[in-house]
Amino acid sequence: MTAANIIDGKAFAERLRTRIAAVAADFEARAGRKAGLAVVLVGEDPASQVYVRNKGRQTLAAGMESFEHKLPADTSEADLLAVVERLNADPAVDGILVQLPLPSHMNEQKVIATINPDKDVDGFHVVNVGRLATGLPGFVPCTPLGCVMLLKDRLGSLSGLDAVVIGRSNIVGKPMAQLLIAESCTVTVAHSRTRDLPEVVRRADIVVAAVGRPEMVKGDWLKPGATVIDVGINRVPGAEEGKSRLVGDVDFASAAQAAGAITPVPGGVGPMTIAVLLRNTVVAAHRNAG
Ligand code: GUN
Repeated sequence: MTAANIIDGKAFAERLRTRIAAVAADFEARAGRKAGLAVVLVGEDPASQVYVRNKGRQTLAAGMESFEHKLPADTSEADLLAVVERLNADPAVDGILVQLPLPSHMNEQKVIATINPDKDVDGFHVVNVGRLATGLPGFVPCTPLGCVMLLKDRLGSLSGLDAVVIGRSNIVGKPMAQLLIAESCTVTVAHSRTRDLPEVVRRADIVVAAVGRPEMVKGDWLKPGATVIDVGINRVPGAEEGKSRLVGDVDFASAAQAAGAITPVPGGVGPMTIAVLLRNTVVAAHRNAG
């Protein structure tokens, strides 16, 4: 088996951001204001701070307005809900994202349910979950939508292909399965209780790994030529003392020998998430401005 093609998510995301900037400029010319994305961060989780900083930077670079609301970790749930309500009512705000995870004294579902579904650019509100499941237009979670974009770019039509999604989270696994059903794949959702996971994975033309277990999926689990999308971002100890490195949920070295194409970590799925968030925001702006 020859080595797999590497799916360059970083380059794809850059091209997508260029297209989004053109749509954002068109919106500004028509509406007389920029499309706006509000990001709410509660607390000081370092990874969340990095995401939020990158989101802000890329929002501005795409010609959109970025509104950042940083609240202390001991903010009450009622105060956070009041911030969300204000953003719902603000006509300059087209998209609202509340960075997860929230501090443990808050009910995430309640906070998400307070976001106006037509500003819910994360696609986490039950109304958008229901719209996706029924095939109605709405907002689709950014990471799985980015995965489908990479898959269609690589494979063209996905119709009739066998897909295995490993992981059943609300943010990735479940919406990923819905999107692949909508693309007419035959979809299996595997998870920590699945029996004989290697055998299940071996049936798949498409493997999407979103379990959060470093390098779990091995090359000898794969059907030769399969397309592998690795959503995992895991920090593990590096070769040198005190250094760490990022790895996916797929053992890249062995998988690249068997797969037809594979996303690397970093530089695969990761860059797609913010690009799709910007896309959802400019779509929200156009829809909400009528
Ligand atoms: N935390 C990690 N990923 C995400 C995401 O896509 N959206 C939100 N709101 N929080 C996250």
